[in-house]
Amino acid sequence: MRRLLPEPAGEIDPYDAYGDVKGPWLRVGMVMSADGSVTDEHGWTHGLGGEADFWVFLILRALADGILVGAGTIRSGMVRPARLRRSLRERRGRPPAPIVVVSRSLSLDWTLPLFTAAETPTIVVTSAAALKTAEMPDAVRPHVLTAGDDDVDLGRAVHELRERGLENLVCEGGPMLATSLVEAGLVDEICLNLAPTLMGGGRHTRMLGELAGPAALDPAAVYLDDGVLFLRYGLT
Ligand SMILES: NC(=O)c1ccc[n+]([C@@H]2O[C@H](COP(=O)([O-])OP(=O)(O)OC[C@H]3O[C@@H](n4cnc5c(N)ncnc54)[C@H](OP(=O)(O)O)[C@@H]3O)[C@@H](O)[C@H]2O)c1
Repeated sequence: MRRLLPEPAGEIDPYDAYGDVKGPWLRVGMVMSADGSVTDEHGWTHGLGGEADFWVFLILRALADGILVGAGTIRSGMVRPARLRRSLRERRGRPPAPIVVVSRSLSLDWTLPLFTAAETPTIVVTSAAALKTAEMPDAVRPHVLTAGDDDVDLGRAVHELRERGLENLVCEGGPMLATSLVEAGLVDEICLNLAPTLMGGGRHTRMLGELAGPAALDPAAVYLDDGVLFLRYGLT
């Protein structure tokens, strides 16, 4: 990976590059086509960024203490428990971070490997009201975190996660959860991987939904690897 901004540099290590922040922080990490779609023609992301994007995706996971994912993305069935490739496991020096699923409805498929076979148990964030009526396996219950009575209070959820030692968080999307986190003022950084792909209008999904107003971004760094532009923005 080459750094283009702020200071051009050849062959930098993305683990060091993205590991430059001092916690606690919350970053949103997503891949998007050059014409602004966060989904490929199958409604997923595999067709967007390729290997270079996937490597940074794994590094953002390895650098985080918790990996926030919206229930909509979980329902795609494509989210696997975090695993660390050997080189990343050595550098991280501890087991993979838990996936933290955020859900109001708790309408989730509890038979997914995410809930049955994760090396570090998946955490589920929801409201007290939703938990009261939910049906879920006993094995999942100890890993449920309630934040908010009738609705999920994301600020409280992030606070509770940090109280449990999950200081540094990465949100992998989807757009609905990322929007809620931005709206709640909880996001410190957006790591946007711009894929060298045009998706066209057919199945175009935007990175964010409605915001109350524009949010200013502070460009922090740009890297390039295998045609993918890796853009890092601070939220001011
Ligand atoms: N390009 C990328 O990097 C990327 C990354 C991830 C996903 N995606 C794509 O995005 C699509 C899914 O995105 P999405 O926006 O539909 O779904 P999403 O953000 O993954 O999940 C939405 C769900 O998350 C829960 N949620 C979101 N905000 C919440 C809040 N403030 N409080 C409580 N719960 C909240 C709700 O769950 P309940 O419905 O259970 O209440 C909501 O329906 C998929 O097609 C996927 O391929 C792309």
